[in-house]
Amino acid sequence: MDVVSDLAYPLPANIIADMLGMPAGDREQLRRWSQDIEGVLHYADADALRASQRSVLEMQDYLRRIVADRRAHPQDDLISMFAAAERDGVVNEDEIVANCVLLLFAGHETTAILIANGLTLLMAHPDQLTQLKSRPELMASAVEEMLRCDGPVVSVVRESTEPVSVAGQDFGAGQLFYLAVYAGNHDPVVFPDPARFDITRAHNRHLGFGIGTYYCLGAALARVEAGECFRLLLERLPGIQPAANQAPQWTFVPPLGGKRYDTLPVEF
Ligand code: HEM
Repeated sequence: MDVVSDLAYPLPANIIADMLGMPAGDREQLRRWSQDIEGVLHYADADALRASQRSVLEMQDYLRRIVADRRAHPQDDLISMFAAAERDGVVNEDEIVANCVLLLFAGHETTAILIANGLTLLMAHPDQLTQLKSRPELMASAVEEMLRCDGPVVSVVRESTEPVSVAGQDFGAGQLFYLAVYAGNHDPVVFPDPARFDITRAHNRHLGFGIGTYYCLGAALARVEAGECFRLLLERLPGIQPAANQAPQWTFVPPLGGKRYDTLPVEF
């Protein structure tokens, strides 16, 4: 199978779409929108930015219809909870729609990349794969090590609101900074032997979900999704390995992402 199209994308997309309350038939459309929206990260590519804007607007129109439906017919889902909060005056419709776009996008691409990158790490380190199969209790620390070694987000952006000095350099207000979390996650002062993929690594305080005020809202969900995904994968397909004669294909997605697999063929 191709891990990317058969597992890594459908799994988190179905989960976040279920949580929000999107009808199952609309999931393919969700993937197309999410892929376009990622273009917002390609600052220098006007076509990608236009496609991104178009998809955000389409997604917003689509979500407004679901919000209207849940106002009238509440169900057991997040959009109905947002609609109830709107009735209480806590949020307005634009905020509901903006948050749903963010949740659908953020809850989709990143976890998919973690599944593909994490499985690649396991298959490239058969000793670690064997250890994980025989000691499933290591799953949580294995997922943390995947996030540290080859996590989906390699940098985050900040803008200075006032003049600031960084590493002996002075910058004015309004300066954009790319903070290289990938480099931080491979800092030998913090992580002994940082290039080694070690699923038993202790004190793994990586930056894969960011840090501080904007720490990832979905970190707990992503951890559960990835852990359950690998648990079932190794249980059901213990002989999983890279497909012979079929190399994976990947795209490099600067500046915020690293390597993203477009296909990851495996056999089992
Ligand atoms: C492996 C999967 C994931 C990774 C690696 C990841 C990574 C990150 C990172 C690095 C940030 C901080 C961005 C910054 O500091 O500028 C962030 C923020 C965020 N993430 Fe995730 N994320 C993942 C999954 C999810 C999921 C599943 C959801 C939602 C269901 C989600 C929702 C969010 C939201 C809403 C924010 C913004 C938080 C804020 O600004 O207060 N993420 N994520």
